[in-house]
Amino acid sequence: MTETAPHEPVIEFTNVQKVFPGHHALRDLSFGIGRGELVSVVGVTGCGKSTTFNLILGLFPPTEGSVRVEGHDPHAEFDWFRRRMAVVFQDARLLPWRTALQNVRTGMKFAGIPKQEWDGRARDWLSRLGLAGREDAYPHQLSGGQRQRVSLARAFAVDPEIILCDESFSALDEITARTLRKEFVELVRAGGKTGVVITHSLDEALTLGERILVLRPPGHLADEVRVPAGSDPEVLAELRERLITAMNPEGAE
Ligand SMILES: Nc1ncnc2c1ncn2[C@@H]1O[C@H](COP(=O)(O)OP(=O)(O)O)[C@@H](O)[C@H]1O
Ligand SMILES: [Mg+2]
Repeated sequence: MTETAPHEPVIEFTNVQKVFPGHHALRDLSFGIGRGELVSVVGVTGCGKSTTFNLILGLFPPTEGSVRVEGHDPHAEFDWFRRRMAVVFQDARLLPWRTALQNVRTGMKFAGIPKQEWDGRARDWLSRLGLAGREDAYPHQLSGGQRQRVSLARAFAVDPEIILCDESFSALDEITARTLRKEFVELVRAGGKTGVVITHSLDEALTLGERILVLRPPGHLADEVRVPAGSDPEVLAELRERLITAMNPEGAE
């Protein structure tokens, strides 16, 4: 393989439809994400971002079409994926009666990591995320940003191939969000992970993703934008306008 060869596909949607009772959430959605890519998925509320996310996670099957992750069906082989994918949600979803350390350990327990590794890995990841010394704090004793740091530590500690974020930085103040996004990108890159970040924030998508997929209601791919590394503000402003046009449910196809 040459350096310019396309990434090996890790996530592939082919003509995916998802129909909920009374709602057609995704219509004919096809896209691919390659190994080691960091891709953002943007779109207005209700365009099907979380549905896409849940399909990747295998929480439910598509109504039609095919979803493949690492060549496997994530719904049919849910257990196979436990160690391979990790998730960071908008709210940190920590167990309130467990400390930061215990929350990170619990993630590894569910992923089937050997017990003797839990403590060391949890401490290491909490420290990498700037929480050394706060291992024994309970979620209510931490700020929103720190809780999300625990949630990131929990995800990375599993050492997954794929890391998925659904609006993970959206509820944070902009300063905290910026810092965490930057750290997130560094950790994804350093670990050679594949990252998928679902967000309604264009700034977030432009900061995070080298490639942006734009979904438009009713659930299809409206555009796909590459963000060249180190783009200057003018280029980013142009890309932003293009994303807004593509996202707009009223816009021309
Ligand atoms: N379990 C469900 N039952 C019925 N409708 C749903 C369900 N989940 C999502 N939807 C609908 O599907 C559409 C897409 O939802 P979602 O994927 O959550 O959008 P987004 O995350 O982009 O805001 C929305 O109109 C939503 O109301
Ligand atoms: Mg959503």
